[in-house]
Amino acid sequence: MNRREAVALLKKHVKSEQLYRHSMAVEAGMRAYARHFGEDEEAWAVLGILHDVDFEKYPEEHPAKATEMLTPAGFDKDFIDAVVSHGLDCKEMRVDHKRKALSAVDQMSSFIVAVARMRPTHFDGLKAKSVKKKMKDKAFAKAVNRDELEASREALGVEFAEHVDILVQGLIEHEKCLQAEGFSLLG
Ligand SMILES: [Fe+2]
Ligand SMILES: [Fe+2]
Repeated sequence: MNRREAVALLKKHVKSEQLYRHSMAVEAGMRAYARHFGEDEEAWAVLGILHDVDFEKYPEEHPAKATEMLTPAGFDKDFIDAVVSHGLDCKEMRVDHKRKALSAVDQMSSFIVAVARMRPTHFDGLKAKSVKKKMKDKAFAKAVNRDELEASREALGVEFAEHVDILVQGLIEHEKCLQAEGFSLLG
């Protein structure tokens, strides 16, 4: 499945613009990490796009319900298991770089977007120090569990500053592509 088909499948199951924007941010992060590790960028992008495909319809069962949406679409077990592996109680399934990256990218990409939204220059010049400061600010993006953010990054084996740099660069590049389609990560 290519990007266009993945986006069409996502739009079939997700009407919330916020969740769509999050999915695009995770796609950006997965693209950045696929390049970082020399892996298949398009395959990692599709995983980012579809990782929350079941969240809107089944917030309680998510991400287990993704299986029912992805199997008829022709995805293999490895892809579906990778989606399921980002569930909080599925850490033992995160056996490779792709799955570890998905969890590390999941909330951090949207967290960085939230930080960028508050800056006049958005992603440009956004450094790890600013992101760290916002992580310590408990009132900012309250729903994001900082311990999970850090644990998933450590499991991926990337230092905090490098993680932020990789993601910011990925977000900048993907924002350009999305803007060409008339969409923006910044809302
Ligand atoms: Fe999720
Ligand atoms: Fe997510």
